[in-house]
Amino acid sequence: MKPTHKLLFVLCSIMVVVFIYYSSLKLHFTFWRHKTHVHKKPSVTLTVTNPKAVIITNAKVTTELDLDAASKGRPGDSEELEQQSTLDRKFSTTSAQQDNKLGGGACMRGHAATKIAAIFPKFTKPMPMFLDRNFRQYKEIRNYLPPFGVRSQEKIVDAILTATKKYDLSPELQSLSCTKCVIVGNGGILANKSLGLRIDAYDIVVRLNKAPVKGYTRDVGTKTTMRITYPEGAFNKTEQYEKNSLFVFSAFKPQDFKWLRQMIYGEKLRSTEGYWKSVPNSLPKKPSELRILNPYFFQESAFKLIGLPLNNGLMGKGNIPTLGTVAITMALHNCDEVDVAGFGYDLSTPQAPLHYYESVKMSAIKESWTHNISKEKEFLRKLVKADVITDLTKGI
Ligand SMILES: *[C@@H]1O[C@H](CO)[C@@H](O)[C@H](O)[C@H]1NC(C)=O
Ligand SMILES: *[C@@H]1O[C@H](CO)[C@@H](O)[C@H](O)[C@H]1NC(C)=O
Ligand SMILES: *[C@@H]1O[C@H](CO)[C@@H](O)[C@H](O)[C@H]1NC(C)=O
Repeated sequence: MKPTHKLLFVLCSIMVVVFIYYSSLKLHFTFWRHKTHVHKKPSVTLTVTNPKAVIITNAKVTTELDLDAASKGRPGDSEELEQQSTLDRKFSTTSAQQDNKLGGGACMRGHAATKIAAIFPKFTKPMPMFLDRNFRQYKEIRNYLPPFGVRSQEKIVDAILTATKKYDLSPELQSLSCTKCVIVGNGGILANKSLGLRIDAYDIVVRLNKAPVKGYTRDVGTKTTMRITYPEGAFNKTEQYEKNSLFVFSAFKPQDFKWLRQMIYGEKLRSTEGYWKSVPNSLPKKPSELRILNPYFFQESAFKLIGLPLNNGLMGKGNIPTLGTVAITMALHNCDEVDVAGFGYDLSTPQAPLHYYESVKMSAIKESWTHNISKEKEFLRKLVKADVITDLTKGI
């Protein structure tokens, strides 16, 4: 053998060894990632232990997946999942078992959007959760007053966004390839169902207003990704807000935006007139933890989904959706799967608790001037029936 050939031979061997080593490391890493996020992108080779076999299987599978994706014209995790289940049933079962115990099945990409488009053909998915510096460019919200848009409040919104400087979820959540969200309503139906662990298994846990976590974790979980709140529903003590959770502001009335600006800039609240109950005079959250819910979701849920009267786009009798339904609408645009818990008033059981955290009874519910509870319930039932959302507490 010539020396150059010898050298080449040695180099090749080294490269092969390095490749095997590198691949096994990478697999180890994917396995680790998989363990922390059970439903995330599955790796096809998890249970194979021999590195050589791993490389071969991996290469083969990748090719199959590429072909599969190409033939269908789109890359997709669901295809990967199907492939995976036939190739590695052992892992699939363990994963499925784990998932069923916690969040219920592997994450189905695009599930909610596909299902809702089947019953509302005009539904188009892209719509950011929160307002950002380009908010004036969204024609949908430009021409409507709150709660359906930002008209007349642009300057205040600008001032708020200047202070918050952030307009997104955490990079960690944004990078998920498939996102499961749960909207936790405040209904008494959540009590004593021990759903806490199941709720905590979602990527995004949305809570509303003053629904407490402390003291109720067995039933409602501990995780709070965001709390969607209007001024009258806001906590005013630091310890009432979960750490690392976002305060997502939703404005019902024009003056609500002003309230948030006052809280951020430490301005004195001059008058509490116009609020339907007392509002906090300070907000114990850092500006970087504040977001403004995109008012588009009010507009869409009211006029396009529930079918409430347009009233020239103004707030009027029975045309304001409840915050819970607005939150579901937001999630339909921004999550792959949307589940709900603690939704639904059962007026046939007047002695049942209205909320999971207080002793007020169902019978205390009043006919609302602003909301149309029955029409909204009809809409939510439609979503459950069409498998757009899953109702964990079956109250809808
Ligand atoms: C939940 O269980 C507690 C303790 O057993 C009980 O006091 C409470 O009334 C129950 N709540 C509901 C809504 O069933
Ligand atoms: C918080 O609000 C309650 C009533 O809503 C009020 O009694 C209390 O003084 C407020 N506390 C602070 C720190 O603002
Ligand atoms: C709710 O909607 C129904 C059907 O459109 C209507 O008959 C009813 O008056 C509405 N209720 C309220 C409170 O607006």
